[in-house]
Amino acid sequence: MNLFDVYPINNIIIAKAKGSYVWDDKGEQYLDLYGGHAVISIGHTHLHWVQRIEEQLKKIAFYSNSIKIPLQEELATKLGKLSGKEDYQLFLCNSGAEANENALKLASFHNGRKKVIAFSKSFHGRTSLAVSVTDNKNYIAPVNETGNVIFLPFNDEQALEDCFKKQGKEISSVIIEGIQGVGGINVANEDFLRKIRSLCDQYGAVYIADSVQCGYGRTGKFFSHDFAGVKADIYTMAKGMGNGFPVAGIIIAPHIKPKHFQLGTTFGGNHLACAAAIAVLEVLEQEKLLGNAVMVGKYLKEELSNIPELKNVRGRGLMIGFDVPESLKDLKKNLLMHQKIFTGEAKPNVIRLLPSLALKKRDAEDFIDALKEEIAVMSGSNNEPAVTEVNA
Ligand SMILES: Cc1ncc(COP(=O)(O)O)c(C=O)c1O
Repeated sequence: MNLFDVYPINNIIIAKAKGSYVWDDKGEQYLDLYGGHAVISIGHTHLHWVQRIEEQLKKIAFYSNSIKIPLQEELATKLGKLSGKEDYQLFLCNSGAEANENALKLASFHNGRKKVIAFSKSFHGRTSLAVSVTDNKNYIAPVNETGNVIFLPFNDEQALEDCFKKQGKEISSVIIEGIQGVGGINVANEDFLRKIRSLCDQYGAVYIADSVQCGYGRTGKFFSHDFAGVKADIYTMAKGMGNGFPVAGIIIAPHIKPKHFQLGTTFGGNHLACAAAIAVLEVLEQEKLLGNAVMVGKYLKEELSNIPELKNVRGRGLMIGFDVPESLKDLKKNLLMHQKIFTGEAKPNVIRLLPSLALKKRDAEDFIDALKEEIAVMSGSNNEPAVTEVNA
């Protein structure tokens, strides 16, 4: 049987990983500034995370949500404390798309409405509702098409206000990434997020903060929406939550009440997933990784801004993007092939950095040196065409 060929991939087999490094099957070492689509939050194979999972595996790996799972409560308490959302309620699932799917559905159950506002360049996942609020026609199959989604320009307060004025009573929810990831590291303006909050309050719509990529401490605050000083009604989380163990969830404001059977899952919140997620929160706290993300992120942004070929350096904490000129369009590929550094990309010609939040300053320094070297080499030579990559 062949694999279903849905991704163009790099011809590299990763055999081992530790912290911010991975090694291929020939023993070659790579610096990982991408964390496999922003997933590695506390570092590859962190000892505490491995131990927690191992210990749990020996006790019980899975039982369904038909019984009490105290680990879920332990996770909810710890998550509430670290995120500053102690009065919220946790629902656990398995992936970012599923988290958004549940958030959109719950919002619609809550206010009985159908329409959703989403924004240009958004990415919210590939399941039916999640993909319908994703601004990329190539991902939307005819069966996913719905007349319920209104796309508005990102960061455009006037367009948002006009839309609410026209159809405010029909709007069920507004879904927005605090920083767009796949769209190219586009930071939502704080005023824009505050405007969403006030319009949702005024018209009874639900504010959904997609924090799948920009959440879980990556920006230096637990949720990037926190920078605007607003509280969303639902936050969706996935990627960094399990440091590679598949676990996701939504946290829900207290005024949205649960009703039996509206949401459900077989695998979501299983014992092993909870153990992995608790371990991540413990490490984030003990090793003060949000502070590290701010410190190393600041260093990286300053250094990147001083490289004249790179434009529009942006982002927060360890979620950083910058534009590369057409002449350096192969930079990402060359960083991987020549400098042995994994980075991410977004179309067209944006490089995304999404490393572990435990990235050390000296690793960031090595990256800057390698980047300068590669740019110098490329500026004086012709290059082969780039491999096209589609990111999750
Ligand atoms: C902001 C955002 N939301 C949702 C998703 C979908 O997550 P998953 O691939 O786990 O379904 C992604 C994935 O890249 C994402 O970046």
